[in-house]
This record gives sequence, structure tokens and C-alpha cells, in this order.
Amino acid sequence: MDKTVTLKDGTEVRIRPLTRSDLDQSLAFFQGLPEEDRHYLRGDVTQRDVVERRIQDMEAGRVIRLAAWDDDHIVADGALELAGHQWTAHVGELRLIVARPYQRRGLGMLMARELYDQAAKHKVEQIMVAMMRPQVGARNIFRKLGFREEIVVPQHVKDRAGHAQDLIVMRCDLEALWREIESAFTLSDWQRAR
Ligand SMILES: CC(C)(COP(=O)(O)OP(=O)(O)OC[C@H]1O[C@@H](n2cnc3c(N)ncnc32)[C@H](O)[C@@H]1OP(=O)(O)O)[C@@H](O)C(=O)NCCC(=O)NCCS
Repeated sequence: MDKTVTLKDGTEVRIRPLTRSDLDQSLAFFQGLPEEDRHYLRGDVTQRDVVERRIQDMEAGRVIRLAAWDDDHIVADGALELAGHQWTAHVGELRLIVARPYQRRGLGMLMARELYDQAAKHKVEQIMVAMMRPQVGARNIFRKLGFREEIVVPQHVKDRAGHAQDLIVMRCDLEALWREIESAFTLSDWQRAR
């Protein structure tokens, strides 16, 4: 896929799969995130080898990774992790991160829509997301997309500062996700949501 989408304020952004040649821009994107947004990510994405490993996972088909571009810089990263041939092969895990200046402009929803398409293509039936309790924006966007909180594991994970946090797992089946996406975008990217 490779398409140009329009944010709520009219800004045009291109969404396409990440490739190895995007490594430097991907690293620059993660390094440019504010500390608070990096705090809850799984790995230290300011390190080149961590970002490179993400690209290797993508090349191996374990992860589908999309990047949103404004001109020549990445403004959002979204991933669908596939379980492969394991007993959770029908489940995909979604990760999403949008650069601060682009947040609350609809880009998270647009990335979710593209990742939904990828999930459908890969015959994923259920999507889960996992986050730490302080990730309020994440909980809200996923609630809006039809995800429901299924499991809370108290003090199960540590943020990058080493503080224990509750892990929250939310889940949604693909059909329910499509209903929410369809009602957010009819006719054009933001016709009804404006
Ligand atoms: C979560 C995140 C991806 C949302 O991206 P976004 O582009 O800002 O999302 P959208 O503009 O599409 O927002 C869609 C809806 O989600 C909800 N929402 C998003 N961010 C919110 C926030 N900070 N507080 C409250 N609600 C929020 C709102 O209902 C919003 O709709 P509205 O703006 O019309 O009210 C972004 O805030 C982010 O990258 N956060 C840091 C990383 C993170 O926590 N990622 C999730 C890990 S899986």
C-alpha cells in the first residue's frame, strides 16, 4: 500500500510500508519523540541497533510496519505484529506512535485504518493492544476504535525510568474494528468526524 491521506486540518500525509532505506529517518523519528512518549515503549528506540532489529522483524514477515510521512520526514509509526504459526496465529498486536505536533489531528485513526486493512489481508481475526496505565491517549483512541479492556495485570511492567506500572491489555475483533472505522470515515477521510 502507498497512499496519501488528509488529516483533520487538511495536511496531507503519505502512508506506506517502512523499508530498510528508511532506517535513518525512522531513527530520527524515534530520537525526536519527547521523553514522555518514549517512556512507555518496549525498547530503547533511540539506539540504531534496536531500530534496525525492528526492520529485520519486518523483513522476516513477523511484523507489518507502516510509516506516515510529511514531506521527507516520518511523523508516525504503526505496526501489526503477527504471531505466525503459533496457537495465536489469528491474533495480531497493534502498536502506534504519532509525533507530538501531529497528535489529535486524526493521524492515529488513519494509521489504524491502514493497519486494519493489513490485518484483514493477513487473515487476522482479533487485534490486541498492550499498554501501561499512564498511556491515556492510547486507551482513548483504542476505546474509540471498539477495543475493550480485557486484562489488567497490576505492576507487571516497568517503564524506561524503572517504575513498575500496570499492564493493560485491550482486544477487539476485526469486524467490530471495521464498524468503528467505517463510522469515523465515510465518503472522505474526515467527512463525518469533523
Ligand atoms: C495514542 C496516539 C497514537 C494517538 O494518536 P493521535 O494521532 O493523536 O490520535 P487521533 O488524533 O486519531 O485521535 C483519535 C481519538 O483518540 C482519542 N485521543 C487521542 N489522544 C488522546 C489524548 N491524549 N487524550 C484523550 N483522548 C485522546 C480522542 O478521542 C481522539 O479523537 P478526538 O481528537 O476527535 O477527540 C498518540 O497519542 C501517541 O502516539 N501517544 C504516545 C504513544 C502511545 O501511547 N502509543 C500507544 C501504544 S500501542
